[in-house]
Amino acid sequence: MGDRLRGKVAIITGAARGQGRAEAERFAAEGAHVIAGDVLDEVKDLPDGIHLDVTSTESWTAAVALAVERHGRVDVLVNNAGIHHAARVHEMAIEDFQRVLDVNLLGPFLGIKAVVPHMPGGGSIINVSSLNGLAAQARTAAYTSSKFGLRGLTKTAAIDLGPLGIRVNAILPGVIRTPMVAYVVEEREAELAAGLPLGRIGEPMDVAAAAVFLASDESAWISGIDLPVDGGHIAQTPGL
Ligand SMILES: NC(=O)c1ccc[n+]([C@@H]2O[C@H](COP(=O)([O-])OP(=O)(O)OC[C@H]3O[C@@H](n4cnc5c(N)ncnc54)[C@H](O)[C@@H]3O)[C@@H](O)[C@H]2O)c1
Repeated sequence: MGDRLRGKVAIITGAARGQGRAEAERFAAEGAHVIAGDVLDEVKDLPDGIHLDVTSTESWTAAVALAVERHGRVDVLVNNAGIHHAARVHEMAIEDFQRVLDVNLLGPFLGIKAVVPHMPGGGSIINVSSLNGLAAQARTAAYTSSKFGLRGLTKTAAIDLGPLGIRVNAILPGVIRTPMVAYVVEEREAELAAGLPLGRIGEPMDVAAAAVFLASDESAWISGIDLPVDGGHIAQTPGL
């Protein structure tokens, strides 16, 4: 497809399906060496697809060791893996709240700690937050908390890692057609699309294209930002 990521070594989490898979495929098409991680076995369909549980430090150590053994370093980390648990805040089990925070927020933190020592020439870290990092809906206490937190982690890491030449940015997807929201899309696609300035819901490749830009040297002076990929959703004033 192109060479915008030629020779870059990228680790992408949650790459078995949905947005992570689209990112793995698009990054490879742009010339990157991709280590694709997931807890689902389907990730092994991809070249260099490996078991990676983002909540496990051992798992991160193994993934980074593989990248370094094969390619000598890491240039890009996409913290894409995420989960959702729907329940009203006072009815949510502590374990369910904790699990969402572990995958969506602790996971990216562990990933940053694992890759930074292996980014000697600088790098780009992309954290996939959400429009839920800006505002909530009912029954999303764990998810929304984690995605707000991930924006905070992004900004702090951008400041701490800037002197090392490492950029850290967040992508905030709107509704994207993936297994995570399949039930919503199936029931309400026409209504959701009609509510967006661009008139359609997002596809995984819409997010992958934004990730290519933030991973590439074209964004060399961009760090600490929130990049909505949302069909114009948050440009609108609600309720009018
Ligand atoms: N689809 C949307 O509308 C939407 C909107 C905003 C943000 N997001 C975010 O985008 C990211 C990608 O989600 P998606 O829509 O492709 O969903 P998805 O459910 O299709 O994919 C998520 C992937 O993460 C993997 N994963 C879950 N726990 C993991 C763990 N512990 N370690 C490694 N991998 C793990 C899953 O196995 C799955 O392959 C998530 O962070 C999600 O919160 C999605």
